[in-house]
Amino acid sequence: MEIKKLQLKNFRNYLSEDIFFSKNVSIIYGENAQGKTNIIEALYLLSTGKSFRTNNTNELIRHGESFFSICLELEENNYPQTIEIRYEKGNGKKLFINEIKKDRMSDILGVAPSVLFSPESLTCIKGSPGERRKLIDIVLCQISKKYLHNLQNYNKIVKNKNMLLKQIQANKQHKHQLDVWTESQAKTGSVIIEQRKLFIDSIEKRIKRLMLGISDGKENVDIRYKSFYEDGKDIYQYLLNTMIENTEKEIEYGISLYGPHRDEMEISLNNKNSRLYCSQGQQRSLALALNIAIMEEIEQNTGRKPVLLLDDVMSELDENRRNFLYEIIEKTQTVITTTERMQFVEIDDNRKIKHIHIKEGTAEYDTII
Ligand SMILES: Nc1ncnc2c1ncn2[C@@H]1O[C@H](COP(=O)(O)OP(=O)(O)OP(=O)(O)O)[C@@H](O)[C@H]1O
Ligand SMILES: [Mg+2]
Repeated sequence: MEIKKLQLKNFRNYLSEDIFFSKNVSIIYGENAQGKTNIIEALYLLSTGKSFRTNNTNELIRHGESFFSICLELEENNYPQTIEIRYEKGNGKKLFINEIKKDRMSDILGVAPSVLFSPESLTCIKGSPGERRKLIDIVLCQISKKYLHNLQNYNKIVKNKNMLLKQIQANKQHKHQLDVWTESQAKTGSVIIEQRKLFIDSIEKRIKRLMLGISDGKENVDIRYKSFYEDGKDIYQYLLNTMIENTEKEIEYGISLYGPHRDEMEISLNNKNSRLYCSQGQQRSLALALNIAIMEEIEQNTGRKPVLLLDDVMSELDENRRNFLYEIIEKTQTVITTTERMQFVEIDDNRKIKHIHIKEGTAEYDTII
């Protein structure tokens, strides 16, 4: 998969602008607040259906306007494809793939897979369990439609069950009405846990190898799926039994307390919980390795190589980690943002690089290839 061109209309500080990408490395450079990250945000939105900066789609519309549209042209096995999102205030996002309107936003997943690495990526190491859970879900949804459907289903079940638990707590409903929800929660939830565990086993192998490379063999990583569930047991039966045994407790709290919506992945470095004991540098290395592992995983499972989006991270990496990243960039279509116009002496063939200067929402090209 190769991204070719991004059209922006009334998106953030862009009025109407086309951005053309190199099939190798595109370096988007310019001063602060000119619109560099806005380009990464549009690409990410066209890849996942979501912004990584806001849940409020209105914020994405250029001030004073009433709609935005963004369109990505890409090529897959020599076939051109387009993904377009249009949004009008008050009307919800509309998705078009190859100019055909899609009913569900989730149809966008997997068409133009991407992996984003930004200063905020450290939250996948330092942040709350919810952040890591979200990351696993975003990746698995890009990889597997089955996972996506199960997750959507599961979230609905938990929402309904929570409502019912509160009603039972207030004596407005009978306890036995829970049975049907508990049963379907165990069914759907166990499939989600199984898929997550397989994913984490596979990611762990990759990160172990990558971290040894980044840290000259000093750092050993372990990743574990952390759950109320005990390894070796039948997941469905165990989840069902746990919920049945704890029915009173769930009614008392008024929320569902067991299942994949409460689980997380625990990352340890040299046998210590990375969330609590990692140095800044170790966190950066881990976040980098995790993202690269995710790229490999997406490519292996979908046959599509994700685009690597690097927002403002080059200057934060030391020489060792930067060299490591160069090796990846050489093999992957990459979009980089930076305030300083960067030269890649490491990537010897300069024709592979496109420099795009962004100033107040307009793009100028240093070299046209
Ligand atoms: N809805 C909007 N309408 C108009 N302008 C907007 C909107 N949302 C954001 N902006 C403007 O976009 C600019 C920020 O763009 P962006 O975050 O891409 O900057 P950047 O080039 O990445 O800067 P930095 O180097 O500081 O990261 C700001 O000037 C901001 O005011
Ligand atoms: Mg920025």
